[in-house]
Amino acid sequence: MPPEIQRRRTFAIISHPDAGKTTLTEKFLLFGGAIQMAGQVRAKGEARRTRSDFMQMEKERGISVSASAMSFDYKRYRFNLVDTPGHSDFSEDTYRTLTAVDAAVMVIDGAKGVESQTRKLFEVCRLRDLPILTFCNKMDRESRDTFEIVSEIQENLAIDVTPASWPIGTGRDFLGAYDLLHDRIELMDRADRNRVAESIQIDGLDDPRIEQYVPADLLARLREEVEMARGLLPAFDRQSILEGHMTPIWFGSAINSFGVKELMDGIGEYGPEPQPQRAEPREVSPEEPSVAGFVFKVQANMDPKHRDRVAFVRLASGHFERGMKLHHVRAGKPMSITNPVLFLAADRELAEEAWAGDIIGIPNHGQLRIGDTLTEGEPLRVTGIPSFAPELLQTVRAGDPLKAKHLEKALMQFAEEGAAKVFKPMIGSGFIVGVVGQLQFEVLASRIELEYGLPVRFESTQFNSARWVSGPKDAVEDLVSKNKQHIAHDNDGDVVFLTRLQWDIDRVVRDHPQVRLTATKEMM
Ligand code: G4P
Repeated sequence: MPPEIQRRRTFAIISHPDAGKTTLTEKFLLFGGAIQMAGQVRAKGEARRTRSDFMQMEKERGISVSASAMSFDYKRYRFNLVDTPGHSDFSEDTYRTLTAVDAAVMVIDGAKGVESQTRKLFEVCRLRDLPILTFCNKMDRESRDTFEIVSEIQENLAIDVTPASWPIGTGRDFLGAYDLLHDRIELMDRADRNRVAESIQIDGLDDPRIEQYVPADLLARLREEVEMARGLLPAFDRQSILEGHMTPIWFGSAINSFGVKELMDGIGEYGPEPQPQRAEPREVSPEEPSVAGFVFKVQANMDPKHRDRVAFVRLASGHFERGMKLHHVRAGKPMSITNPVLFLAADRELAEEAWAGDIIGIPNHGQLRIGDTLTEGEPLRVTGIPSFAPELLQTVRAGDPLKAKHLEKALMQFAEEGAAKVFKPMIGSGFIVGVVGQLQFEVLASRIELEYGLPVRFESTQFNSARWVSGPKDAVEDLVSKNKQHIAHDNDGDVVFLTRLQWDIDRVVRDHPQVRLTATKEMM
């Protein structure tokens, strides 16, 4: 594998809101040299957010609706950190984001342990056997017993946990950690939050030098706990980590810059290099010389003044250079990539080149959709990027009936962005919009108003779920003609069966045995 590819680490951070993801991200960028001082991520985030009220809403609710990618160098590694939206209403977007990474960092709050959103996101990672590195944050505060945290992760998430570090003291007495992998004592500096811990190389926990740094009672407890941990917990095994069966855990405090560098070293040393990508008719390996990449996210109207869209592309193989002509497989057309962007911290920068593992943004006018594959000519199609059936359906109407065409345009754009499902019912007028969480309706309404100047109303419908219909043409047509009031078409023109009750689905399954109803559709 070319060294440029080998040094890449592409990962996401998963956590429950408030566990410290933003703080940790900021420290990553700080130690990666991408920002000069702490506080900039939030500050830049706010500057960006004031550009629209939609973002304002995001700020008020303290959630992150949109995902972005950040690249920075750390030691000999190039880190690509893909930000995942934190709110559970956006789980589908998160799911797709996780198809673009090779590993995840799971952040948990030392006082709260494994929380609901962490568990959900973890399950998504597990579906893809993603390697997971764990950071137990907020150790500067009162936290749970270390063994209790470890066993909660083991039992709750069914994964082996191996300590990469072990905390010395807890709460007010938290002093730092013992690095089990490098036999070092790291001491936290409470006075200066941005100072990296002092690191003392020792020769095992019986080394008398430790006594200068760690008070006798804490040392006795540390020795006892580490001995127990070594006896009870599985030993560090890189292979098992790469296969997603084991997670190493670091204990730290992001706000105090403590344990962050050790975690970053861990991502570099033990995290995976870019992995092969599932595709049809064959898998794509990162070291292949020709370029292949896939779109995992589309973000429209990043700047409301220019109706631009940015397609986020994960490069699956090869060495990309600006100006390259790539083959847009779905459209069967060539596409010149003249102004691709790389996301460095919160800024965009023209990408002169990129390698497998990198995320580039391609500005376009709607040609690129989620799930699209770009190659140097081979008709490959990346697989495994699903679209889920929405769990909430509402009818949407324009405040001004004369603006129905505008509404249609806005809705189609959001559907392509993956922000909602849009269905056009066979009978009646208007559109039915499907989402995974209630909050998405509010976000959509405010975006349509802001970006298209169209006030809209969402109203309840009789339907509450949707299924994609597939099967032999005659059978599908038969179903459609007998159930017109339940039929709609999605933005790709595919037939959808709208349901009120499970009974509707059971009836179709019974009456139309040749037809398949599915709750997911693969995007292509
Ligand atoms: P999130 O992105 O996962 O939602 O979490 P975020 O980093 O925003 O952190 C949530 C809160 O936890 C913030 O406090 C943050 O300062 C605090 N925090 C993060 N890491 C640590 C840590 O290691 N120790 C302690 N004690 N607190 C930590 P806040 O009051 O909500 O925000 P702010 O006033 O600090 O900005």
